[in-house]
Amino acid sequence: MKQIRGKKYATLRTVPSGGARHGFELYFVCQNVEGLDPGTYHYLPLKHCIEFLNPIDKVSDVLASSLCDQLWALKANVILYFSYVPYRTEWRYGHLAHRIALVDLGHVGENIYLASTSIGLGTCGIGACVTSICDEMFELDGENEFILYSQPVGKVNPEDFAKEKSFYEFVEKEGL
Ligand SMILES: Cc1cc2nc3c(=O)[nH]c(=O)nc-3n(C[C@H](O)[C@H](O)[C@H](O)COP(=O)(O)O)c2cc1C
Repeated sequence: MKQIRGKKYATLRTVPSGGARHGFELYFVCQNVEGLDPGTYHYLPLKHCIEFLNPIDKVSDVLASSLCDQLWALKANVILYFSYVPYRTEWRYGHLAHRIALVDLGHVGENIYLASTSIGLGTCGIGACVTSICDEMFELDGENEFILYSQPVGKVNPEDFAKEKSFYEFVEKEGL
């Protein structure tokens, strides 16, 4: 957070946000990160720190079910999950709130792409996350706050680039 405007009316942060509403919260699961126990965490933007929520015994099981069994994502060290708190944008923008919110989250996600790349890490947006499972993971009620986007972040294995190339060979073969 860079600044607070008014009596906590708005916060100015690293990402832009329509009306400075910042309708999102950032949660994450981590595994194999030095100094952090495997488990669920929550980012506190006003203090720029993280809080530990709960330990997780078998991280890979939780991650797989929350990300529609997209197993490639389980290799990441940190899996970010963004929740949306509709009230924050709806009281200000009414029926246009969701337009603002989706554009806002695009900015946040792109910043994660830029930050990851700048330190030699990889990330990938994941729209196919199972909201109910993710909500349970972070103890969200699914109505006033719910998860809607995820981004695993981790080291990129050079061998995976080769696999990526062969994965798309079918596109050329089939003239798609
Ligand atoms: C909002 C959004 C949702 C996405 N959801 C998934 C997903 O669930 N699974 C996946 O493998 N890739 C997902 N992607 C990644 C896209 O498939 C990928 O960005 C696209 O194929 C282009 O590849 P590139 O990002 O490497 O250029 C998503 C990307 C965005 C921006």
